[in-house]
Amino acid sequence: MSKNSELRSVIETTAVVIGSFVAAVILIVLLTKDYSSNEPAAEKVVDASTTEPVAQVEVDDQSEGSADKVIDAKQIIAANCAMCHEGGLMGAPKIGSEEQWAPRIAQGKDTLVSHAINGIRTMPARGGNAKLSDEEVAAAVIDMANAAGANF
Ligand code: HEC
Repeated sequence: MSKNSELRSVIETTAVVIGSFVAAVILIVLLTKDYSSNEPAAEKVVDASTTEPVAQVEVDDQSEGSADKVIDAKQIIAANCAMCHEGGLMGAPKIGSEEQWAPRIAQGKDTLVSHAINGIRTMPARGGNAKLSDEEVAAAVIDMANAAGANF
């Protein structure tokens, strides 16, 4: 009987000890959660800002890909062709000049496009930007020619 009561008190003591440990652990977990909900929140913002540029790079890649699909001739011209064709540098036919473009346009769309892609005399291939696709160069040629009276 005394062994039983000893056992009981041991079990009770153990239960109390375990119970208080569990309570302490729960308290600690709750307290750490409260703190961590504030601190790591700030850390997460930092993490986000360090990962954001990577995400932006991916977005940039995608927008480049979509730029290939949706060709913006005006943008291509502004970035690659206007430097010569706006002011008529080195005798480049000026954008919007029907007089200067008329003999060029008379060669036909395909010839003009192939001259722009491959270059002709002082006109550099692809306006000097090898990254431009045939479609992008063609869109720029068509836009410039149409701005000077063509109907491509
Ligand atoms: C470095 C200056 C320069 C840049 C940049 C440039 N061009 Fe030219 N381009 C010229 C010159 C100069 C000529 C006239 C060449 C000639 O007929 O002797 C010309 C002529 C042309 C012609 C007429 C070709 C023909 O057969 O008569 C087309 C079309 C043309 N360029 C399109 C473009 C396009 C599209 C771009 C941009 C992607 C571009 N060019 C960028 C200088 C430039």
